[in-house]
Amino acid sequence: MHNSTLASLRTARVIGHRGLAAAAPENTMAAFVAAQQAGLRWVELDAKLCASGELIVLHDNSVDRTSNGRGRAHAMSYQQLRKLDAGSWFSPRFAGERIPLLQDVLQFCADHGIGINIELKPNPVDYVATARAVADLLRAGDWSARLPLLISSFSLQSLRAFQRYLPELPRGLLLERRWPLPRILAELDALAAVSFHYDDSLITPEQIAAVRASGRDVLIWTVNDPARAKALWQLGVTAVFSDQPLVPA
Ligand code: G3P
Ligand code: MG
Repeated sequence: MHNSTLASLRTARVIGHRGLAAAAPENTMAAFVAAQQAGLRWVELDAKLCASGELIVLHDNSVDRTSNGRGRAHAMSYQQLRKLDAGSWFSPRFAGERIPLLQDVLQFCADHGIGINIELKPNPVDYVATARAVADLLRAGDWSARLPLLISSFSLQSLRAFQRYLPELPRGLLLERRWPLPRILAELDALAAVSFHYDDSLITPEQIAAVRASGRDVLIWTVNDPARAKALWQLGVTAVFSDQPLVPA
């Protein structure tokens, strides 16, 4: 599965960020539909566990920025979360969009041949629970046989937990800080990660070359400028996360 996942990413070159965040409210079904309609072959989403045990698709710890509600998502039940309007903050055209369940986005993407980078966004009180719940959901539905999947997280604790629960799924290391290159390579080895995901403002050509030489793919966020995307692809970057449907050269 690793080989086909990576081959699919190398062809795609653009990963719709949070669905397609410039076109529709991030991480809602409308954003995944927008990515599909724009012809994207991969999307990224942020997954977290809510208080009643369901996995939802949401970026922030709280629902405040991307819905008409208030509060921390991990302390709210899905019954509460599903009542929120997750579209009007973006535009009145999207009034009534909901915070989706991860399984509903998996089904949509499987139906349309779209791969998903599931970014584990653990709640701030338990870094392992989200990893375990995602592993359980993916195993129960045999989802990795139905669509290309890549698991990532800024939380090393979450990624290591996921590695224990479902080792056969490909993992990518996400970093938001500057690390020395030897430390990056050592952590990629420890995680048996297939990819390195890094911020466009931090990446250097030397890092791209070294990670590629170690046999890994490099994915960069968030790249909304087509010229910048092209420059990164030419430096050896496999794919960029974009809020826009960039067209690969
Ligand atoms: O997974 C790539 C990117 O989404 C990481 O940053 O904050 O947008 O989840 P963030
Ligand atoms: Mg993300």
